[in-house]
Amino acid sequence: MEDLDPDLLDLTRSARTVTVLTGAGMSAESGVPTFRDPGTGWWARWSPEELATPEAWESDRELVWSWYLWRARTLRAVRPHAGHLALARRTGRVHVVTQNVDDLHERAGSEVLAHLHGSLLAFRCSVCERPWDASEELRLDLPADEHARERPPECPACGGAVRPGVVWFGEPLPPGALERAADAVAEADLVLVVGTSGLVQPAASLPLVAAGRGVPVVEVNPVDTALTPHADHTVRARAAEALPRLLARRR
Ligand code: OAD
Repeated sequence: MEDLDPDLLDLTRSARTVTVLTGAGMSAESGVPTFRDPGTGWWARWSPEELATPEAWESDRELVWSWYLWRARTLRAVRPHAGHLALARRTGRVHVVTQNVDDLHERAGSEVLAHLHGSLLAFRCSVCERPWDASEELRLDLPADEHARERPPECPACGGAVRPGVVWFGEPLPPGALERAADAVAEADLVLVVGTSGLVQPAASLPLVAAGRGVPVVEVNPVDTALTPHADHTVRARAAEALPRLLARRR
């Protein structure tokens, strides 16, 4: 990784309140695929129309349920990396806003202010919305099989089908999540945008909220994205190597 601009390091190491917006690239070095990276992303191998829309759920619940259950089970084998740990250990106020549906930030020790796209680990009834306890389905000795076809369980309260707790295309975000995220962006001294292509709204509008309020935006991503023109600084590196250096304490 190339040397970082001293002015940038001064900014990232001295900011008192940091809001970080993470996307799938944040989890990539832990072994969780991104969505759109060529060849390896989820949407290179599977169709979002068949798996990530309310219409997909209505047309083939077994397929949709089994795919998300498989993804949830695969999370057991991954671990947070040095970038997650650097965020969790940074002194001062750090607000984590993530589009990711894994729990790697939490496992590193961060409190997540907003899971904008829900969670792979928080299932709920598709009818009465009651949370559903997934501990039995996610047991360590159950296999993670991407080709399984299982029926969604029935909600013990109303008998409705249990669904994944993720946000599908065309669905609203979890109540309050965008508002909490926008407040955290507006009150920050620094916004770090890590590992997102910036193609999915409304999450992609958050760095623009920061820019509109004069809050400096730093992008960490190996490649240019839709958000690059709105960043004050860009760090062309991976999250696990860039974040520990950006957030290291002053000596
Ligand atoms: P994408 O797959 O669209 O973008 C991932 C970004 O991470 C790309 O810009 C990569 O260059 C970057 N990247 C890859 N490896 C990285 C690394 N090691 N360090 C830093 N950056 C890296 O993922 P998202 O932007 O998160 O929505 O996608 C947004 C939403 O689209 C997802 O939350 C999901 C998807 O459809 C839902 O599931 C609702």
